[in-house]
Amino acid sequence: MATKKIIITIDGWSSCGKSTLAKQLAEKLNYVYIDSGAMYRAITLYFLRNHVDWTDQKEVLSALTNIQLEFHYNENSAQSEMYLNGENVEYVIRDLVVAEKVSEVAAIREVRTFAVKQQQAMGKKKGIVMDGRDIGTVVFPNAELKIFMTADNAVRVERRFKELYEKNPNITLEEVKNNLEMRDYIDSHREVSPLRQATDAIVLDNSHISMEGQLKMALGWVKEKL
Ligand code: DC
Repeated sequence: MATKKIIITIDGWSSCGKSTLAKQLAEKLNYVYIDSGAMYRAITLYFLRNHVDWTDQKEVLSALTNIQLEFHYNENSAQSEMYLNGENVEYVIRDLVVAEKVSEVAAIREVRTFAVKQQQAMGKKKGIVMDGRDIGTVVFPNAELKIFMTADNAVRVERRFKELYEKNPNITLEEVKNNLEMRDYIDSHREVSPLRQATDAIVLDNSHISMEGQLKMALGWVKEKL
């Protein structure tokens, strides 16, 4: 498995555990993990903080010129974290305030062009695992291994709720469910790069598969590609 490096893309619905699998794969293979959703979340945070009217194309284009996105590896958390104009925003971008708007922002053509260009540059040297919605279809259509993740709605809501509840005990299951359904709808119905399963992607439904089980399956697929 050692020398040849490939590109692994993981796309799928919200809260399917894409990032969990992507991080584990990257760690096992000594690859770089990139959370493309974090980039859309950071852009959304910038728009919200700076009152950017994202229905106005000119405002969007001008705002994007002021946005610098970077991932920096954090030794303590053992993961790469999102920085927006030099500020670590890894945690704030997970807030529901951002989650409520991110699908709208991610549907904007100019925003996607801005993010995709940077994502493609990150994959130049291969040895990368990137998760998102359009990674296997648009960002890296020639990736060697494409995984499309899915899970039952109830399972996904429960997982997201647990995650968010730890940070905000006031959150309700209903709020989480509504947000998830709204994001899935917008992500899969938008005009630009909607969430689609690439024709050459392997489908992984993890509703009833443990984290260890799915990692084992994915490592098996990697082995086949190497
Ligand atoms: O994966 P996530 O939930 O952090 O993604 C946040 C939002 O960004 C989600 O609504 C979909 C969008 N997104 C996207 O449109 N394209 C990607 N490659 C990654 C995320």
